Amino acid sequence: MRYKLAPSILSADFMRLGEEIAAVAPYSDVIHIDVMDGHFVPPITIGPVVVKSIRDGVDLPLECHLMVDEPERQIEQFAEAGGSSVVWHLEASGDDPRPILERARAFGLGAGLAINPETPFDDVAVYAEHLDTLICMTVTPGWAGQAFRSDVLVKLELARGFFETRGIAADIAVDGGVNMDTGRRCLDAGANVLGAATSIFGASDTAAAAKALRAMLDEFEGVGG
Ligand code: DX5
Ligand code: ZN
Repeated sequence: MRYKLAPSILSADFMRLGEEIAAVAPYSDVIHIDVMDGHFVPPITIGPVVVKSIRDGVDLPLECHLMVDEPERQIEQFAEAGGSSVVWHLEASGDDPRPILERARAFGLGAGLAINPETPFDDVAVYAEHLDTLICMTVTPGWAGQAFRSDVLVKLELARGFFETRGIAADIAVDGGVNMDTGRRCLDAGANVLGAATSIFGASDTAAAAKALRAMLDEFEGVGG
């Protein structure tokens, strides 16, 4: 199994976004872009125009984490901007996320679901076989820099057990409050993707922070295979 690093640019210096991404790129599997609409979550952040600029300058997959209401309305825009995958919230998916999953795939995008810390794994389990990624939020979505929610660790264990039993190859990602310490606990519990903003872009040495997380992921990859 591939253990992946997904730096979230939410805490990057946007005046120097190209340099910031270039610093982490050698250690990264994907660049995580937090899209917030001011409705599903209070803040407004990044839209397709920024994705398009990043696409032109970076040779890594771009994961668009859509913290938006009515995600089905946004998918085409992110595909056209050069996004590689879209992950939206089960909580914003209406009765059934599968038509949205199909829509994402029709535009050539990878597709995933995110669930808030309070949302039980059972709510998403039924869709698991259709996913490329499941993001288990380890903070309330909306802001970088929040404290890690260790109550989510048990959900990671549940998810990994469920995926293993059924042979589901989807990634299990965590997002929020992830650093060397909490990240290790997530990997131990069953995550294989670490999303992180503050612990990378808020560090005094961005590249070194990404490199350290990468080394920890390599350690798990070496052990787990
Ligand atoms: C939270 C976002 C996260 C956030 C993580 O709503 O989805 O991706 O940027 O930030 P840190 O790593 O600072 O918790
Ligand atoms: Zn995110």
